[in-house]
Amino acid sequence: MKTELRLGIAGLGTVGANVAQLIERKSDLLAERVGRSIRITAISARDRSRNRGFDTDGMRWFDDPVALAREAEIDAFVELIGGSDGIAREAVEAALKRGIPVVTANKALLAHHGLELATLAADNGIEILFEAAVAGGIPIIKTMREALSGNEVSRVYGILNGTCNYILTRMEKEGLTFDACLADAQMLGYAEADPTFDIGGFDAAHKLAILTSLAFGSQISLESIFIEGISKITIEDIAAAAELGYRIKLLAVALKTDSGIEQRVHPAMIPARSSLAQVDGVTNAVAVDSDLLGSILLAGPGAGGAATASAVLSDIMDVAGGFVPPTLGLPAARLQPYHRARMRAHEGGYYIRLSVLDRVGAFASIANRMAENAISLESIVQRKADRKGEGTAPVILVTHETTEAAIRSALEALRNDGHLSGEPQMIRIEDLD
Ligand code: HSE
Repeated sequence: MKTELRLGIAGLGTVGANVAQLIERKSDLLAERVGRSIRITAISARDRSRNRGFDTDGMRWFDDPVALAREAEIDAFVELIGGSDGIAREAVEAALKRGIPVVTANKALLAHHGLELATLAADNGIEILFEAAVAGGIPIIKTMREALSGNEVSRVYGILNGTCNYILTRMEKEGLTFDACLADAQMLGYAEADPTFDIGGFDAAHKLAILTSLAFGSQISLESIFIEGISKITIEDIAAAAELGYRIKLLAVALKTDSGIEQRVHPAMIPARSSLAQVDGVTNAVAVDSDLLGSILLAGPGAGGAATASAVLSDIMDVAGGFVPPTLGLPAARLQPYHRARMRAHEGGYYIRLSVLDRVGAFASIANRMAENAISLESIVQRKADRKGEGTAPVILVTHETTEAAIRSALEALRNDGHLSGEPQMIRIEDLD
């Protein structure tokens, strides 16, 4: 048997503690599978006194994770602190500069600095592994980087934020308000420390930025992602979606278009019969369309201690077994510069819900503005006004395929016509099987 693999772990929250417990509990099995034993020799966390359910004998304690990464006698560094900058980034850079491979679950760090870090790793003859950074326990990184390596990917998309999917599912199934569902998601520990990261779409965007690079061999470009969160989705939209044969999900999508790569995170109406529409609650799912394989869908737990630890453990085992592919699939220097397709060029169908003042000419203004912008309507429904006289009537439109630019221009003109009470609601429709 080869010499043991000595690990340093920084960050012993739910995931870190789970990883350490698994390494203790499954030590014989892991050693048998990778041909060497795996031992944690150094740890660092915020609070030294807490019992985390594993034996810390023989592990050197560091108050400072950066010092651990810089000085500890280790063969691999596991970063489970989180955050795009600060000590997590410093500690990862310190390990890489020593030529020590890094295993991390830190999506924000990779989304913001992935290219620099992959380059630093390659310059030092090692790589970064990050299976746990996207969709928790779902093995999507290895699938894209290794199993699909001979494919050309045309689109990658999915439900990448469990908190949003949990909220939308409960609003739909139980008719609960957005705020009540968010409070439950926080209580159950799904949400990020700052829940605006989840509901604003930023957590999903971090994950998408990484998937896009793997899908298209491009440099990571978080700043090119169009991001819209779920906080404006109402029970009325969810009910209208159901009537129209759709469900509303926070979708993250990256696809190749004629004008470049389109990356977007936003609430989308997806066909109620599609596979992705069946993904409920905190579950995540990622779909990949590629030339040889067609469409695949991976679904499973996107968060949680044991599931995320499963992904971290698989990376640790890859390091132990000497199987360490390039961080982002290609050597960092060969990743292509990112070419962004503008969101205004996005093509698709749209759902629009208007609150229209119940007066002569209001409906004509809608029809005119749609026609002026060459938007063809698939359906239009006006419900009865809420009171006699000049009340407001909900009008729901579904368009045929058009462009984002046309929709924005039509909605702007409608606002200026003065027949609306309140902001129009617009939700993109995603064409899925
Ligand atoms: N807050 C994240 C989610 C957890 O809700 O999916 C994992 O990134």
